[in-house]
Amino acid sequence: MAEAERSVQQLFDLSGKVAIVTGAAGWLGSAMSRALAEAGATMVVTSRQADQAESFAASLPGSGHIGIGFEQGDTETIPAFVETVLGRLGRIDILVNNAYGSTAPSIDSATAEDFDRAYHVGVTAYFLLAREVVNHLRQRQAPGSIINIGSMYGVVASYPDAYTGLPTNSPPNYHGLKGGLVHLTRHLAVYWAQDNVRVNAISPGPFPKPVTAQTMPEFIERLEGKSPMGRMGRPEELKGLVVLLASEAGSYINGQNILVDGGWTAW
Ligand SMILES: NC(=O)c1ccc[n+]([C@@H]2O[C@H](COP(=O)([O-])OP(=O)(O)OC[C@H]3O[C@@H](n4cnc5c(N)ncnc54)[C@H](OP(=O)(O)O)[C@@H]3O)[C@@H](O)[C@H]2O)c1
Repeated sequence: MAEAERSVQQLFDLSGKVAIVTGAAGWLGSAMSRALAEAGATMVVTSRQADQAESFAASLPGSGHIGIGFEQGDTETIPAFVETVLGRLGRIDILVNNAYGSTAPSIDSATAEDFDRAYHVGVTAYFLLAREVVNHLRQRQAPGSIINIGSMYGVVASYPDAYTGLPTNSPPNYHGLKGGLVHLTRHLAVYWAQDNVRVNAISPGPFPKPVTAQTMPEFIERLEGKSPMGRMGRPEELKGLVVLLASEAGSYINGQNILVDGGWTAW
C-alpha cells in the first residue's frame, strides 16, 4: 500500500531535529540559522568567538539552541567539536557547512599559501566535519542532510571589468576552492546516499554585505548591471532553500548544486 502523502507543513517541519550551522553569526549564516530555527530545529551555531556564538544562539527563535566556539581551520579539533555537540544535544541531523574566511589576493599576487589556506578552511574542513557527522548518523542509522555553501564563482568566472580599478578582487583561490567544493558535494552525495544521507550545495550569487555597498557603491552598481534582475540578493532569499534541502520536503534532492543568483548564471 502506498504511504500516506504528508502535508507541506509536515514535510518542511524540522521539529526534533538538530542542525549545525558553521560561521552562523555572519551575513548569510545568520539568516539560514534563523530559517532552520523557525522551521523547528534545535540549532548548534558556531563562531570562532565562543561568546559571539552563545549570544547569537540566544537570539534565535525557539529554545534549546547552543553556541560553540569553533575554528574549523584547526581540523584536528573537529572530532572533539562533534563529541561536544553530541554530549550536549545527543544527536545531529543537519549540517550546514557555511563558515569561510581567507585571504583575497589578486591573480598577480596570489601565493601557494593563499591557495593552501583557502582550500584547508573551505574544502578540507567541510569534508572532515561532514564525515564526522555522517559517522554519527551511521551509528544512529538515521537519515541526514549535509548542505555545503558554494558560490556562483564555483560555477562561472567573474567579469574582470566589474573589478577593474576598484580596491577589490575576485580571488583565484576562492574560485578554485568553490569549484572544488561543488564537485566534492556530488562525489560525497553518491557515496553517502547508501547511508540515507543527502549532500547538496547552495551556491549564492552576489549577496554583498552592507559595508560593501557603503564603501564601494560603484562596485555594487557594476554587479547590478551584470545581474538579470538588476539587484543584489538579500540573505532572507536563502531561507526557503536551506529549509527545503534540510527537511523531508527535499528527501529526493541529492548531489545537486542549486544556485540562488537572480539568474546570473542563466545568461
Ligand atoms: N556574501 C556573498 O555574496 C556570498 C556569495 C557566494 C557565496 N558566499 C558564501 O557564503 C558563506 C557565508 O559567507 P558570508 O557572506 O555570510 O560571509 P561572513 O559574514 O564573513 O560569514 C562567514 C563566517 O565564517 C566564519 N569564519 C571565517 N573563517 C573561519 C574559520 N577559519 N573557522 C571558522 N569560522 C570561520 C566567520 O565567523 P566568526 O568571525 O564568527 O568566526 C564569518 O562570520 C561563505 O561560504 C561564502 O563563501 C557568500
